[in-house]
Amino acid sequence: MVNAAAPLLFFDSGVGGLSVLEPTRVLLPQASIVYVADSAAFPYGTRTEGEIAARVPALLGRLVERYHPRLVVIACNTASTIALEHVRAALEIPVVGTVPAIKPAAELSRSRVIGVLGTEATVRQPYVDDLAARFAADCTVIRHGSAELVALAEDRLAGRPVSGAAVAAAVEPLAARADLDVVVLACTHFPLLAAELAAAMPNARQVDGGAGIARRIAFLTRGQPWSDDAHADVAVFTGGAPSAGLVTALSHHGLERVTSL
Ligand code: DGL
Repeated sequence: MVNAAAPLLFFDSGVGGLSVLEPTRVLLPQASIVYVADSAAFPYGTRTEGEIAARVPALLGRLVERYHPRLVVIACNTASTIALEHVRAALEIPVVGTVPAIKPAAELSRSRVIGVLGTEATVRQPYVDDLAARFAADCTVIRHGSAELVALAEDRLAGRPVSGAAVAAAVEPLAARADLDVVVLACTHFPLLAAELAAAMPNARQVDGGAGIARRIAFLTRGQPWSDDAHADVAVFTGGAPSAGLVTALSHHGLERVTSL
């Protein structure tokens, strides 16, 4: 039987995983949460496959030993498309990944032109080739990676001003396609900029995996006990203390306690 105190462990390079945590909290308000930002290695999107594949399974191994979660959520498309299988092989608990929501996007598209907006590392992955071939074979799939957008999303969450023009410039290659009617937010940071992205790409519906992942977590933990201790929730940063603005924002996401690894 699962220990009622065992948390869900969310993992991302930064604050993007909050876009997966939010819908999960709606379905599982009683869950206790450990949210890990690998800020020491942020951003992942400009790293090599080898760096991610070596770092993420080892770090998650340490985190699982420390926090004894019942389930790990890799709330990061970059880490999931590169290292999900390695992590599953290394851990003995369920691991839920976050991969680009190409299937629902293809189901929604009328024009059959869809965008995949992720990090540079994510959009070049064979995992994405495979999803496009399986679920969007009759669509033109335009991929675009942006490190700038990840940085802007971190700014937004930390309460720093974000310019709509900067967001528009970062997605220009997708916005230029008037026939693109659905865009996959294939980086968990990007739902944090949903309003700016809608202004930059008014014809494109945005699709992300957050709600589907939350349903998957609820399914995998159905019937499990939860202890009544919300104060157990914690945000863990691998790269030292986050800014005061970020600490305030985390508290608005129910993460009142912040610590370093
Ligand atoms: N949030 C991450 C993703 O979903 C990665 C952002 C980054 O560190 O570059 O891909």
